[in-house]
Amino acid sequence: MSDAVGAGLTVRSHKGPYDVLFGDRAAAGLDALAAGGRPLHVIVDERVADLHGDRLAPLLAGPSVLRLAATETNKSLEKFPAYVDHLVATGIRRDHLLVAVGGGIIQDITCFLAATMLRGVEWAFCPTTLLAQADSCIGSKSSINSAAAKNILGTFTPPRTIYLDVAFQATLDARDVRSGIGEILKVHAIDGPESFAVIAADYDRLFTEPDVMLRYVRAALEIKKAYIEEDEFDRGPRNIFNYGHTFGHAIEAATEFAIPHGIAVTIGMDMANFVATRVGDGSEDHFRRLRPTLAANYEGFQSHPVPFDAFLGAILKDKKNTGAGSVTMILPGADGRLAKVTHAADDAFTSACRTFLEEVRPA
Ligand SMILES: NC(=O)c1ccc[n+]([C@@H]2O[C@H](COP(=O)([O-])OP(=O)(O)OC[C@H]3O[C@@H](n4cnc5c(N)ncnc54)[C@H](O)[C@@H]3O)[C@@H](O)[C@H]2O)c1
Ligand SMILES: [Zn+2]
Repeated sequence: MSDAVGAGLTVRSHKGPYDVLFGDRAAAGLDALAAGGRPLHVIVDERVADLHGDRLAPLLAGPSVLRLAATETNKSLEKFPAYVDHLVATGIRRDHLLVAVGGGIIQDITCFLAATMLRGVEWAFCPTTLLAQADSCIGSKSSINSAAAKNILGTFTPPRTIYLDVAFQATLDARDVRSGIGEILKVHAIDGPESFAVIAADYDRLFTEPDVMLRYVRAALEIKKAYIEEDEFDRGPRNIFNYGHTFGHAIEAATEFAIPHGIAVTIGMDMANFVATRVGDGSEDHFRRLRPTLAANYEGFQSHPVPFDAFLGAILKDKKNTGAGSVTMILPGADGRLAKVTHAADDAFTSACRTFLEEVRPA
């Protein structure tokens, strides 16, 4: 591993700077946490604890370990009293540290507890999915569910330190690898058409060459860092990270979350590029240029049924919309650059969506 790729990354936030440590430094940092004097409360994905017991042994030997399944139900408000009871029973104090080990679900649970327990306890994060490593670990956001409302409650609370060890990727399911790659593709598309072309040319190597994967994980974090440092609270420039997400979230909702998040986002980007050619300034050329890589990344889901009425109902309810009967989304302009657009949910829009889902996507 070259130093440029292995060196840490520091992100500025309203709570001060925090570091992302990579590779051996991440592993050594986690061991040092376990050996240090500061009391820890570890919240760990039970699957990760089972698969990576050796790597995590020092952390898991501590007196406060909460093992959870990574399910959407477990990041629902209704489950939080049990987590609070556990932390109280294990003697949580303000100067203790919560440590999250897992993907986005464990991140969201831990971050929300860190923001609210005792009016704020610090937390650290060891992301174990590609999506969490390449995207969600930086940016301060947490979102939890309440009853049927997904990601409705949340805060902006960055971790103190991120311990990013790509060795965890070895045990991921193929669909979770492609879900993470979806977000990496998104970040490169945001960086511009040239950046997307570079990763598209390396797409196949992501699956077979860990060094290439690490390079793109790091590149994705570097690109995202610039936006979140400028707009941590997502009021302006950072909005662009919703590329693929307005469509993606509606696809996830319409399919009852049968499609992993980053794969739904990949379909959503292809859909945004297509819809922009019908109701916006997007060019056919741009749509065609991105399509082979995006379609490869959602292979297996080209024909997954997306009930159209449910899709439309969900996209009209998106929390980013500003007016009734309109949809706010990120679309490419004529030059392929992405921008926030609000469009009426008129016949032209709905028919572009239907054509994409029913004719373009499976092609
Ligand atoms: N807070 C944010 O900024 C943010 C951003 C994006 C997504 N999210 C949320 O994150 C969740 C999705 O997160 P995710 O895709 O990272 O995964 P996840 O936490 O849902 O985990 C996906 C699956 O991978 C398993 N897993 C985790 N690490 C593994 C490993 N190393 N080896 C084998 N299996 C492993 C889990 O047990 C689970 O079955 C959603 O709830 C989404 O809303 C949050
Ligand atoms: Zn996402």
